[in-house]
Amino acid sequence: MRKTVIAGNWKMHKTLDEAKAFMTNINEKLEKPTHTDVIVCAPFPFLSSMSHADKVSLGAQNMHYETSGAFTGEVSPVMLQHIGVQYVIIGHSERRMYFNETDDTVNKKLHAAFKHGLRPILCVGESLEQYENGETEEHIKQQVKKALRGLSDKQISKTIIAYEPIWAIGTGKTATSEQANEVCKLIRSVVSRVSSIETSDDIIIQYGGSVKPDNIGELLAQSDIDGALVGGASLEVDSFLELIRVGAQ
Ligand code: PGA
Repeated sequence: MRKTVIAGNWKMHKTLDEAKAFMTNINEKLEKPTHTDVIVCAPFPFLSSMSHADKVSLGAQNMHYETSGAFTGEVSPVMLQHIGVQYVIIGHSERRMYFNETDDTVNKKLHAAFKHGLRPILCVGESLEQYENGETEEHIKQQVKKALRGLSDKQISKTIIAYEPIWAIGTGKTATSEQANEVCKLIRSVVSRVSSIETSDDIIIQYGGSVKPDNIGELLAQSDIDGALVGGASLEVDSFLELIRVGAQ
C-alpha cells in the first residue's frame, strides 16, 4: 500500500524566526500518523537551521543541476544534501512560468537530485488555456515523459509526482476530486508505459492547488491521489496539522 505524503510549500514566505517557531510548534503538537510522510519545503536561508526537526522531513523548493560552478545566485544539490535536506521540489509551475524552467532543465534536475541522494517532487500541470482547450491530457503526458527521460525504474518509483493544475494554484479554485483523480490516473498510466506496472503501482502521486483542511479528505479518498502539495494552507501550524490529521483518516 502506498504511503500518504503531505508536503508544505512555503514559497517565498516567513522570516527565520517564524520558520523556527513553526518547526518547534509542529514538533510539539504533531502526532505523526504511521502511514503518512510529512515534508516542509522552506526557503533556502532557513533550511540549515531547520534540519534537526524529527517528525518532519525537510525539502527545498528548487536547486541547480550542477554540483558546483560559476552560477551566481544558485544552490547546488550537494549543498542541500550536506545540510540534511531530503526532498526537493522540481519544476513547480511558478519556476517554469517566471524563471524559464523547461522540460529539459527539469529532467537534468531530476537526474542531479538522484545523483546526490535527494528525493524529487516533480510538479506537472496545465494552464487555464490548455484546460479550456481540452489539451490537459496531451500536455501532462508530454511533461511527465520528458521529465522522467533516462531515469532508472528505481529512480522513477522514488519520484513523487505532484499534479498541480496552474489554474487552481492560489486561486481558491480546486479541480473536483474526480477531475484530479482522472489526471493522476493518467500520470500513473504514463509511468507504467515509460517504466513498468510495478513502478506505477509504487509511485506516489500528489494533487496540489488550493488544498485546504476541508477538501483534502475528499481528494485523498480517490483511488490515485496519494498525498497533497500544499501552499497557502501549509503556512500556519494549525491548518497544516489539520491537513495531516484529516489526510490520515
Ligand atoms: P496553493 O499552492 O495550495 O496555495 O494553491 C500549491 C502549490 O503551488 O504548490
